[in-house]
Amino acid sequence: MVPSPSSSYLSIIVLLLSVLLIDSASIEENFIQCLSSYFSSNPKQFSTIIITRKNESLFTSTLDSTAQNLRYLTPSTPKPEFIFTPLNESHIQAAVICSNKLGIHMRIRSGGHDYEGVSYVSEIETPFIIIDLAKLRTINVNITDNSAWVQAGATIGEVYYRISEKSEVHGFPGGICTSIGVGGHIAGGGFGALARKYGLAADNVLDAKLVDANGRLLDKEAMGEIPFWAIRGGGGGNFGIILWWKIKLVPVPKSVTVFTVSKTTEQGAEDIFNQWQEVAPGLFDKDLFIRVIFQPVSAANKTGRIISTSYNALFLGDTNRLLKVMQKDFPELGLTEKDCLEMSWIKSVLYIAGYPNDTNPNVLLQGKSTFQNYFKGKSDIFTTPVGAFQELSRRLLQEDNPLMIWNPLGGAMWDFNFYDTPFPFRSDFYYMVEYLTLWHNASEDVSKHLDWIREIYKYMTPAVDDQRRVAYVNYRDLDLGVNKKNATNFKEAAAWGNVYYGVNFKSLVKIKKKVDPENIFRHEQSIPIDLSIKV
Ligand SMILES: Cc1cc2nc3c(=O)[nH]c(=O)nc-3n(C[C@H](O)[C@H](O)[C@H](O)COP(=O)(O)OP(=O)(O)OC[C@H]3O[C@@H](n4cnc5c(N)ncnc54)[C@H](O)[C@@H]3O)c2cc1C
Ligand SMILES: *[C@@H]1O[C@H](CO)[C@@H](O)[C@H](O)[C@H]1NC(C)=O
Ligand SMILES: *[C@@H]1O[C@H](CO)[C@@H](O)[C@H](O)[C@H]1NC(C)=O
Ligand SMILES: *[C@@H]1O[C@H](CO)[C@@H](O)[C@H](O)[C@H]1NC(C)=O
Ligand SMILES: *[C@@H]1O[C@H](CO)[C@@H](O)[C@H](O)[C@H]1NC(C)=O
Ligand SMILES: *[C@@H]1O[C@H](CO)[C@@H](O)[C@H](O)[C@H]1NC(C)=O
Ligand SMILES: *[C@@H]1O[C@H](CO)[C@@H](O)[C@H](O)[C@H]1NC(C)=O
Ligand SMILES: *[C@@H]1O[C@H](CO)[C@@H](O)[C@H](O)[C@H]1NC(C)=O
Repeated sequence: MVPSPSSSYLSIIVLLLSVLLIDSASIEENFIQCLSSYFSSNPKQFSTIIITRKNESLFTSTLDSTAQNLRYLTPSTPKPEFIFTPLNESHIQAAVICSNKLGIHMRIRSGGHDYEGVSYVSEIETPFIIIDLAKLRTINVNITDNSAWVQAGATIGEVYYRISEKSEVHGFPGGICTSIGVGGHIAGGGFGALARKYGLAADNVLDAKLVDANGRLLDKEAMGEIPFWAIRGGGGGNFGIILWWKIKLVPVPKSVTVFTVSKTTEQGAEDIFNQWQEVAPGLFDKDLFIRVIFQPVSAANKTGRIISTSYNALFLGDTNRLLKVMQKDFPELGLTEKDCLEMSWIKSVLYIAGYPNDTNPNVLLQGKSTFQNYFKGKSDIFTTPVGAFQELSRRLLQEDNPLMIWNPLGGAMWDFNFYDTPFPFRSDFYYMVEYLTLWHNASEDVSKHLDWIREIYKYMTPAVDDQRRVAYVNYRDLDLGVNKKNATNFKEAAAWGNVYYGVNFKSLVKIKKKVDPENIFRHEQSIPIDLSIKV
């Protein structure tokens, strides 16, 4: 039947109206409808896992729950249309399919510790939704074959705890901060106190399960070796949604030794720090990890502040052997027996993370961060000692709550080749340095803090070959550059792509084009699809 003109006008009007009416309610309704069709089930069942502003308090508490950087929770920060909190793998597959179908932009969140909040805020496109994996945190440890399957929403602290529950002599080389999520953390590398013995978390991944851009659930075999390479250090939010990692457990002694020795300028801090720069990565025993934390403290005479440098260490052995190693490698610190504490590996995790010494390890099961801050971080990875003690100290004293952490590389970090995983900073690289500034008051002048950290970063420029200035993708820094909406421009993204991935960046761009040609997984610093280079 040929429609009469009037009914055809009518349908055009209906069509126009429906286009005009695509507001937030209908994005959510369309999404629910799409999910329901996928499961052929009652739409009502999704009302508890799709959290919208209709329930403002639940929306806010869910959004805030794991968001580590309060800078990205201010009222003026863009908010998601809704937060989807999947309960199983098929929910995630369906969410990817439905987002594609409806053209809804997704952000993926596991532990919410992204330095620049890109897992829960989009500053480059609206509307967007969050797929929050917080409810997917199962951990299955298998001591018999030295492995564990861990779900992306678990924190690294939960992983450590579940391993320690099964064995006192197994561990995993992940990050120091225990509330980071394994989803984003391992995807970006994962560096901690066991790195000099075993490398990064990503160096110790055996298998993974990910939902790709088409909504397929793929393990290592199904995705293939090349994408499997890319997801182990190529950065979160680029290639798919990681649902599970299969990690390799590593041996740790039944008892390890820790210490923290602090030195001020009066106590010879400069010479000791210069010596640490010379020897920490290259010479130290692989069992020894000593990081240096710079922080202002109040002077003993209570007038003003001075810089304290804390040597915060884990040794995979007992005090006797540690004292011998220190006598040989780093006598300048003057470590004594009474500085040393022997404890189980899991207690050392709490110690290095800064918990009070009587904390029960089950605190790690709280599953979220105990402190949230306003903060800005930047990082460098140096190839030579740089000295700079006095000027760095002077600058740190000018800021309210600065923190600077020097992490030694070397040891097992140098046993891997630069192309073994996307993290390329191997045998030439001595230490990763983190500059941080923290504040707690929403009404403070943010630009003051940003200026301070940008200045200290600028000051350190001569210490690096500027052409090769590099940084760790897990310490995300949007100052390095930001994807524009629909960015495909290689030149722009190269600004930070080369910084985070060095020589591996080009490979990652090629893989991205293969596995996510529509750029479904994107954010401010996602790996671009370069249309101008031949791949
Ligand atoms: C207080 C603090 C301490 C830290 N300490 C360390 C440390 O000791 N060692 C270290 O190496 N790093 C450390 N980090 C950095 C940390 O490793 C990164 O911020 C990491 O990305 C956090 O992972 P997440 O899942 O918590 O973050 P999220 O904010 O959830 O995600 C980070 C990125 O990964 C993406 N992503 C999240 N989940 C997935 C997933 N399932 N699949 C694919 N992509 C995903 C997000 O979209 C985002 O791009 C620290 C960060 C903070 C804030
Ligand atoms: C909002 O969610 C909370 C937690 O699920 C619930 O207790 C409360 O009744 C909800 N409020 C409304 C108005 O739906
Ligand atoms: C996931 O949950 C839905 C119900 O919401 C169910 O229909 C589906 O079978 C579940 N899938 C898996 C893999 O458990
Ligand atoms: C643990 O690994 C062993 C050896 O691969 C295997 O036989 C066993 O079934 C696994 N146990 C569990 C609970 O998966
Ligand atoms: C207090 O101690 C600091 C650092 O040790 C020193 O620089 C300062 O001069 C002292 N002030 C007084 C009043 O003694
Ligand atoms: C734990 O800390 C308390 C207070 O700081 C201290 O008195 C005690 O000796 C410490 N215990 C150990 C085992 O270090
Ligand atoms: C926060 O900063 C504002 C402006 O500087 C100040 O007025 C207020 O007292 C501060 N609040 C707290 C709790 O420090
Ligand atoms: C960005 O991508 C969307 C979806 O693919 C498309 O509709 C839009 O036209 C693009 N915008 C630009 C500026 O290219």
